[in-house]
Amino acid sequence: MPPDSTAAPAPVRVLSGIQPTGRFHWGNYFGAIRQYIDLQAAGESFYFIADLHALTTVREPARLRALVRDAALDLVALGLDPEQAALFVQSDVPEVTELTWLLMTVTPMGLLERCHAYKDKKSRGIAADAGLFTYPVLMSADILAYDATVVPVGEDQVQHIEVCRDLAGTFNHLYGEVFTLPKPRLVDSGARVPGTDGQKMSKSYDNTLDVFEDLPAQKKKIMRITTDSRPLEDPKDPADDQLFALYSLVAPEPERQAMAALYQRGGFGYGEVKKALVTAAADYFSAARSRRAALAADAGRIEAILEAGAARARQKAGAVLARARQACGLSRGYGSGRQA
Ligand code: ADP
Ligand code: TRP
Repeated sequence: MPPDSTAAPAPVRVLSGIQPTGRFHWGNYFGAIRQYIDLQAAGESFYFIADLHALTTVREPARLRALVRDAALDLVALGLDPEQAALFVQSDVPEVTELTWLLMTVTPMGLLERCHAYKDKKSRGIAADAGLFTYPVLMSADILAYDATVVPVGEDQVQHIEVCRDLAGTFNHLYGEVFTLPKPRLVDSGARVPGTDGQKMSKSYDNTLDVFEDLPAQKKKIMRITTDSRPLEDPKDPADDQLFALYSLVAPEPERQAMAALYQRGGFGYGEVKKALVTAAADYFSAARSRRAALAADAGRIEAILEAGAARARQKAGAVLARARQACGLSRGYGSGRQA
């Protein structure tokens, strides 16, 4: 039965992955993670920590292991409910890497040459490996392995979803309706979170406020946020101030409005805003911090969550892989029995 059949409305199956290449910062949370978590109730959902993708940049095994565990703890602390959504580590589902190969055989080189992760590195003269070059194919396998219909991503990932749709379409055209074509769900692109220096917040610019950062360290960073040097008496437009943008993310609405009025009135100092930001940030993430501490102290709990998530994921991915193997002439039957 073709999974993309028009006979009945397709079930909503949400999938997203996030690379464990550093501790999560506010850009990751407000720009991506928060929206992913909000979608967990929309239908069956799968969320994974993309450690195979991270291998193209993190080359220290102990660090990778720690980042994967931290990412899992962070996600659950931030509200991902492992009862509702399957939370797992990408490499715990080997079906996906096998599926990557099947997709690779229908991937035109030119398609990958146009993908920005590779193109950007190349244009900056950085040597790319085949892992980075074929990254969008692994990402496609991630999506297709679970018959995902909705893939919440940031703007930077939309091109990869297009690649995924392209590859799935080619495979289906050659071998029959094997794969479900996913749709990207662009998460609020207006929420481009500025960093402490005013550029886009990114770990590459060393300008991040991390979600679970030690509070005194975070306070120091906030107090050093770059501001303009206009005289304090002048009214300021809150809309083009990065300090206000950060404050708006974490302050309760009435306080945000009061702060906007203060900007418009003038006669205040950025130091006051920074102090208010320190307090609002601590309050905003305080419950998540406590949940994270409790979870981290509960020996074996996060590993058990990831194991259960992987078992659910492998069940689904095994069935899809069997379908794909069968369709392209590989399977002599043993593929269909693959499961966790
Ligand atoms: P970084 O730029 O720190 O390397 P990633 O590229 O790992 O961050 O980001 C993972 C996801 O988090 C991206 O897909 C993007 O949607 C989101 N994201 C990252 N930084 C920001 C930001 N400053 N504003 C909004 N969203 C962001
Ligand atoms: N490439 C994504 C990123 O860097 C992470 C990712 C890997 C992903 N596989 C995915 C996202 C599948 C959505 C679906 O942010």
